[in-house]
Amino acid sequence: MLHVAVIGFGFMGMTHTLNILRNKSLRLRAIVDIQPDAVKKNLHSKGGNFDTGYIDPAQLADIQIYASLQECLMAEKLDAVIISVHTRLHYEITKQALDNDLHVFLEKPFCLDIAQARELIELAGKKEKILMIGHVVRFMPPYERLMQWIDSGEFGPLKFLSLSRFSGRPVWGEWKDGAVSGTSGGALFDLVIHDIDFAFYAVGLPSDIQSSLLPGELSPYDYVNAVWKYEDRDTLVKIEGGNIFHTDFPFQAGYIARFEKASLVYTTLKAEVIRIADEERLYDVEAGDAGEGFYNEISYFAECAMTGRQPVKCLPESALKTIELCYRHIDK
Ligand SMILES: NC(=O)c1ccc[n+]([C@@H]2O[C@H](COP(=O)([O-])OP(=O)(O)OC[C@H]3O[C@@H](n4cnc5c(N)ncnc54)[C@H](O)[C@@H]3O)[C@@H](O)[C@H]2O)c1
Repeated sequence: MLHVAVIGFGFMGMTHTLNILRNKSLRLRAIVDIQPDAVKKNLHSKGGNFDTGYIDPAQLADIQIYASLQECLMAEKLDAVIISVHTRLHYEITKQALDNDLHVFLEKPFCLDIAQARELIELAGKKEKILMIGHVVRFMPPYERLMQWIDSGEFGPLKFLSLSRFSGRPVWGEWKDGAVSGTSGGALFDLVIHDIDFAFYAVGLPSDIQSSLLPGELSPYDYVNAVWKYEDRDTLVKIEGGNIFHTDFPFQAGYIARFEKASLVYTTLKAEVIRIADEERLYDVEAGDAGEGFYNEISYFAECAMTGRQPVKCLPESALKTIELCYRHIDK
């Protein structure tokens, strides 16, 4: 059993807590948040851009709450931490955890500063600890199915993949504070990164990226429309997303994939199914619950930390490449 603490109990901290409580290999020892008094009062994640559930207060009755990781480490014996603070603290808190010989699951994006991300990878290696970045889309059933179809060749080679993700401007938790949200990296590094990471994971590094950007309230790149091309294959990837929309704009994400023998569409607006069309028919297959991606990624991390096996499905080196890819959308 892995003894863990969640650091940062906002939208994502709550989501991870819910899934840790469901997993029999994980034992939640503590929650760390700079607002410790708010933790047990604020147990519904619906404040985020989608609803990931509600924690029964009884389940937190025996969980210790601390105002800092330092305080928590003095009192608790932990194996791992789940870090879900804002991006500007990712480096500092991950370093502190690794320095204290803990395995780390860190929310995406890794670190906006590439040198810091490299340093953390090196430190995790030196300490022989697992460092995994939460690129949850890799673990979401509808995207796992797409990945299986790409790998198996069931529909022939992939010719075109369009990934999209739209959301209203984030206004929950610390996102309300411009000093915090202004350091998030904006929609490119915070939201569209999900699709950039998945395209990289599923199709590989592109040889050329063409992108158009629009500024929003968080950054000069709160809307991204990009086309990726490959020298060595006949596949085109299109990525579109952003959070330039009004706050209550409904979150939506999805994909369209055109294989040689069939075309597929999945959207969170009709999340139950993936629709498949070929020359003869249109039919649906079950998509699975995308929300289970959060459970799957935490379970995978737990398994890796307990066995000492590297998280090959989501290595920190690959999360670093995803950050570098994000920069390729703005560095001309
Ligand atoms: N994987 C996803 O789908 C997804 C979705 C949303 C956010 N995120 C990522 O999760 C991270 C957090 O985003 P959020 O929406 O949960 O933010 P949030 O504002 O809801 O929560 C942040 C929490 O961190 C706490 N905090 C601040 N400083 C702290 C410190 N020094 N120690 C401990 N706690 C501290 C705050 O009090 C707050 O409760 C960001 O990096 C974001 O990019 C990922």
